[in-house]
Amino acid sequence: MTESLFVSQTADRKKIYEEITPQIAALVEGETDLTANLANIAAALKEAFGFFWIGFYVVKENQLVLSAFQGTIACTRIDFNRGVCGHCYTARKTVVVPNVEEFPGHIACSSASKSEIVLPVFDKNGAVAMVLDADSDRLDDFSEVDAEGLGKIVRIIEKLI
Ligand code: SME
Repeated sequence: MTESLFVSQTADRKKIYEEITPQIAALVEGETDLTANLANIAAALKEAFGFFWIGFYVVKENQLVLSAFQGTIACTRIDFNRGVCGHCYTARKTVVVPNVEEFPGHIACSSASKSEIVLPVFDKNGAVAMVLDADSDRLDDFSEVDAEGLGKIVRIIEKLI
């Protein structure tokens, strides 16, 4: 595995996604422990983008349960019909929320979180196995660039599960 992440000092997120995606693929190559891989992916994304919060909720016991993450402490269990994460799980698609205060049912783990993107991660049977959640302390911080860039990282995770 690679030992350090190379990230250009640029505000161009598309460029950063292009740089880090192959590095993340190399990071998880040869490691079979899922939690170890999710932890390193969360750390790599935090290092690359400085997201306020980035991490995974995995499907377990009929809920979304907090897994590897970087950021402040967060709620540990989310019902499938609650929050942005629950909506992502149920709708089975990427959800971008420019202003969390305008999203009915948003779960505020931190009052500093202003915008959010959540992506579903599918297992080999096509079921949602987990969600990848990124929060920003700035309004409207996520765009199609993040949906695509994080989507490619999700595809790497899907090969591991
Ligand atoms: N805001 C999320 C909950 C998880 S935290 O943001 C880490 C939601 O509404 O599902």
